[in-house]
Amino acid sequence: EGLFTYDPGFVSTASCESEITYIDGAKGVLLHRGYPIDQLANECDYLDVCYLLLYGELPSSDQKATFEHAIMHHTMVHEQLHQFFKGFRRDSHPMAIMVGVVGALSAFYHDSLDISNDRHREVAAHRLISKMPTLAAMAYKYSIGQPFAYPRNDLSYGGNFLHMMFSTPAEEYKVNPVLARAMDKIFTLHADHEQNASTSTVRLAGSSGANPFACIAAGIAALWGPAHGGANEAVLNMLEEIGDEANIEEYIARAKDKDDPFRLMGFGHRVYKNYDPRAKVMKATCDEVLSELGVQDDPLLKIAMRLEKIALEDEYFVEKKLYPNVDFYSGIIFKAIGIPTDMFTVLFAVGRTPGWIAHWKEMISGPYRIGRPRQLYKGYDQRDVSGD
Ligand code: CMC
Repeated sequence: EGLFTYDPGFVSTASCESEITYIDGAKGVLLHRGYPIDQLANECDYLDVCYLLLYGELPSSDQKATFEHAIMHHTMVHEQLHQFFKGFRRDSHPMAIMVGVVGALSAFYHDSLDISNDRHREVAAHRLISKMPTLAAMAYKYSIGQPFAYPRNDLSYGGNFLHMMFSTPAEEYKVNPVLARAMDKIFTLHADHEQNASTSTVRLAGSSGANPFACIAAGIAALWGPAHGGANEAVLNMLEEIGDEANIEEYIARAKDKDDPFRLMGFGHRVYKNYDPRAKVMKATCDEVLSELGVQDDPLLKIAMRLEKIALEDEYFVEKKLYPNVDFYSGIIFKAIGIPTDMFTVLFAVGRTPGWIAHWKEMISGPYRIGRPRQLYKGYDQRDVSGD
């Protein structure tokens, strides 16, 4: 008793064994089930990657057709869930809504709550992957006072999301295939990242036997913070605040100042001490989207590129091995597509859902015990209420 390994922030503690994702932070390598992330993003689609994470192999064409059908036929949410959205204040942050409504799925889908039943687990996984974009788009529609747009199962995963975001009863949004493909890639780039804070939260919640909807809601809550998924929103706010290339040096100086809490958002990573391989694909996707939309000389992109260049050459960032991470370019793409800043972290949550579920499923499919860390107690010794 009392002699525990102390590892604040878990910098050197492996909490589980896993076969899903491998990261070599020094080399900037990210593999899902052995496949490099750039190949998955460029040569597969998001549902291939969801299948890969969940089942361990890329799907054959038959397996893909069955999986796609299962996902695209669970996209609607129970009509009564609409009442949940309407209970939130109009100006609620969409992540606040997501924490609530995803947890609330537990109250609707009683045929997928028994974690000892393979079929229940399977249906819960499919439901979560298929309903997350619907819930995300509903959070947005509610915030702008428009009616919810029902999903369309004939569209791709990314295309259907854009449709639910931007279609109105007055006008059907024409899905641009380049933008739909970009959404698909962004979701793929976020799909899993081993034992980050939100995934570890999902595993810890799941280790108590909690149902999958409750576990994913816990993951969404952990993702929200600016040091994790909230960084994509923070990057765009930062670029807007910098406002002009002439101000970059001032912000770089602030990021280096120990007495200033400001950090360059979208820079640095606990594991990557090299260029984040996801950021490379994200940058290429950003170029594709801006050129498709004819956005030339986007001022925020110019600031981002200049900032990146200066930081990559700056002694402080080089020494501390601080490189751009996945969140650095995603916000510029979202903004160009017309997605508001407060939805960015929600989209991270949508993309990360198969990773969270794959880890939850991996854990409960094998022998596991409830997660129960200990602590180094630093408080009072025993004392008496009555005093001395
Ligand atoms: N700007 C300026 N200095 C930084 C930054 C930054 N973005 N990131 C780290 N540092 C410094 C930090 O001050 C510390 O310096 P020192 O050793 O002199 O005290 C050193 O680098 C190590 O930082 P740390 O906070 O001990 O590193 P960590 O592994 O605990 O934190 C991080 C990793 C991602 C939270 C951090 O780099 C950060 O806050 N980055 C900005 C937020 C961000 O972009 N988050 C997204 C992460 S990737 C996707 C995701 O998980 O959602």
